[in-house]
Amino acid sequence: MNGEPALMPPGSGVELPDAPIGVVGAGTMGQGIAQVAAGGGMHVRLFDVADGAAERAVNRIGDLLKRAVDRGRSTQQSASETLRRLEPVHDLEELADCFMVIEAAPEDLAIKQDLFRDLAALCGPDTIIATNTSSIPVTAVASGIDNPERVVGMHFFNPVPLMKLVEVIAGMNSGARALAATREVARRMGREPIDAADGPGFLVNRCSRPFLLEAQRLMQERVADHHLIDRIARLGGGFRMGPFELSDLVGIDVGYDIARSFYELSHNEPRWQPTGIPPRLIAAGRLGRKSRRGYYTYDAEGRYRDEDPSARLPESASGQVEIIGQTTLADQLRRLAEGTGYTVVGREDGTSGPRALVIDARIANAGTGIHNPAGPVAVLCAGNSLAEASAGKDYAGFHCLPPMGETRLVELTRGTATSEFTAGATAHFFHAIGMHVVWVGDTPGLVLGACTSSGSATPPASCWAGSSAS
Ligand SMILES: NC(=O)c1ccc[n+]([C@@H]2O[C@H](COP(=O)([O-])OP(=O)(O)OC[C@H]3O[C@@H](n4cnc5c(N)ncnc54)[C@H](O)[C@@H]3O)[C@@H](O)[C@H]2O)c1
Repeated sequence: MNGEPALMPPGSGVELPDAPIGVVGAGTMGQGIAQVAAGGGMHVRLFDVADGAAERAVNRIGDLLKRAVDRGRSTQQSASETLRRLEPVHDLEELADCFMVIEAAPEDLAIKQDLFRDLAALCGPDTIIATNTSSIPVTAVASGIDNPERVVGMHFFNPVPLMKLVEVIAGMNSGARALAATREVARRMGREPIDAADGPGFLVNRCSRPFLLEAQRLMQERVADHHLIDRIARLGGGFRMGPFELSDLVGIDVGYDIARSFYELSHNEPRWQPTGIPPRLIAAGRLGRKSRRGYYTYDAEGRYRDEDPSARLPESASGQVEIIGQTTLADQLRRLAEGTGYTVVGREDGTSGPRALVIDARIANAGTGIHNPAGPVAVLCAGNSLAEASAGKDYAGFHCLPPMGETRLVELTRGTATSEFTAGATAHFFHAIGMHVVWVGDTPGLVLGACTSSGSATPPASCWAGSSAS
């Protein structure tokens, strides 16, 4: 790009200068970024506007490194060297000779723009200035400073030492060399950089919006409480954490700033409208893990919930089960049912006799019904609610995400027309094939479908595509 300052000698690829790296903001993210930068061999200067915050962050890093040594995950020598590379500083000016400064101040455009103006004025023209913003366009953060080609987005994830991914975001004026150097810095920190576009939430946070927001709406609508929603996400979706555990980890206040900024930047897109839950928690001082209360209450060791139950073993079963649909899920349910001892029959194969369960695993099953079913009926609630799929008949609803075998949990739901017999037969079948069964309120996609879809309550087609999606 014309006029771009020389960050590296021409032709040297992405060699990084042997100068310190600066981190601005010593909160949750700044602390983590400083830790991985020092761990990657860089000398780090850490600045925070709050008195003593940078020192406290370095002390916390020291505690974490000590714990890693005690647990045999690091050596004393490596921990001491990492700690020696961390320098708390008391003035922004002390970052003047850094080759790169990473900003991790609050998610507020005005704060970030002020900081960037100050940093641009005091650092040399070669210094890369990166923002760890979660949602604000990098182009907006860079506006109003000289040499905006040196401004990039460098989005880390929480907790930084555990999360390998870093999004590298090009603003409209970011220069190629600044971006290349940023990717290299990320690699030095032991992270995996990916390029992401400069839109609201970039890539990962845009995908995680429904996960967090739909979960709050489900709780508001009493489809399930936060314990159950998190358990469904872990056992049914394979997530390490459910949406409420994640919100507590991020910080309820930080998450709410991100949610509001995301909503405004997307021109008030209705599906991204924040709910009223976070401001109430914030008013009550329940900011998540950092205040030991958020959605959960944390004890001194950080414990907040019971262990998840271990995987269930399939039981032996007998009888006929009819499974309708040509989806991946239907195929996998057939295999599991056969493995358990059920005889799996189809509509067309002329078998007679009562079915232990008739499972309608078609996606587009809203109101289609099953002609004269020879047993109790359970319908897949993927894009539909049970109310839509059953049209008032005595059906139960279910939802689980393939691949079955990895999924350990199925959600079931019942409506006013669902008999005890149908509910019991449905639960019995899923128990028999080795699933944990939970009951939730009726909503399109049930909990997991709602939280993992784009917010339109329809899971991505790729999730369901089988031999032929019906
Ligand atoms: N928390 C997360 O999970 C997460 C994940 C990815 C990105 N982010 C983003 O990282 C940034 C920081 O988030 P956080 O969770 O670390 O917040 P935090 O509240 O834990 O820390 C922010 C720190 O910035 C300091 N600060 C405030 N104004 C400052 C200024 N003018 N100069 C220097 N320091 C200042 C505060 O004293 C505080 O220590 C935000 O932009 C946030 O959106 C957060």
